[in-house]
Amino acid sequence: MNASGILGATPEHIAKLASYGLAAVVTKTFTEKPREGYAPPIIIKLRNCGYINAVGLANPGIELLPQVVRKGKELGLVTIVSVGGSSLEEFVKVSTVALDSGADMLELNLSCPHTRGYGLDIGSDPTNVYEVVKAVSSLSSTPVIAKLGVSDNYVKSSGKALEGGAKALTLINTVKAMIIDVYSAKPILSNVFGGMSGPPIHPIAVKVVYDVYKEYEPEIVGVGGIVDWISAAELILAGAEALQLGSALSTKPRELVDSVLEGLKEWVSELGYTRIKDLVGLAHKK
Ligand SMILES: Cc1cc2nc3c(=O)[nH]c(=O)nc-3n(C[C@H](O)[C@H](O)[C@H](O)COP(=O)(O)O)c2cc1C
Repeated sequence: MNASGILGATPEHIAKLASYGLAAVVTKTFTEKPREGYAPPIIIKLRNCGYINAVGLANPGIELLPQVVRKGKELGLVTIVSVGGSSLEEFVKVSTVALDSGADMLELNLSCPHTRGYGLDIGSDPTNVYEVVKAVSSLSSTPVIAKLGVSDNYVKSSGKALEGGAKALTLINTVKAMIIDVYSAKPILSNVFGGMSGPPIHPIAVKVVYDVYKEYEPEIVGVGGIVDWISAAELILAGAEALQLGSALSTKPRELVDSVLEGLKEWVSELGYTRIKDLVGLAHKK
């Protein structure tokens, strides 16, 4: 599937994602009210590789959410709504609209690292994670996935999310980072710092998935720096059962999805297995 925030804010975006050959689509994180996000610049391509962004959870708010979900369903895609909030009430409100719109699953954004009061500010506290996941999980039988990121508490937060009723965990979000212009001597992003994505965070994602799988063996959606089948395979070996592609979808997305799937298929049979499931978490048995 795509990673949240890579398109997914409008019905048009969903139609575009549908053309990439993904098994499921994830919406942009929706908050109750529309958010404009930060002033530009909001995304920087790094000189070596990867990106740093501080978009500020810009999204059209719950009014447009039913149309976005309807588009995904119309196109026959499993449609996962990414839910944001700065309070328990907001998470419940956005989730309720997503469920009423027919979302197949909810992914709770407990990990955006650059928007004060949202994401990681909530997800780095295991007690908050438990409360938000429990409140949203008790709304319906629709599966709830908790998306967590890098913090001192990621293993504990993962445990609390599962205890609260999460059916799976998406790991990881972008990683806090910043970039400074050497002539003006100023931080480049208007928010000063942002979240790094792409190849530089891949080994971090592998470690987080590995650590969490080792502790709880939950169902994990692996995300972070996947650029080819090898980076996808590493996350599977660490413990991921499904994958999301983010930054890498910015160039030739259809070709990327096809080549990851093709590469994984060949890899599985070369190792003598028939199903990807047999390779999930295999690095723990070596
Ligand atoms: C421009 C941009 C916007 C993003 N917006 C969201 C978002 O709204 N919600 C969310 O949970 N993650 C968001 N993310 C994080 C991605 O979903 C993903 O976790 C992260 O980029 C790591 O994957 P990648 O290295 O494949 O890009 C965003 C990432 C980028 C680059």
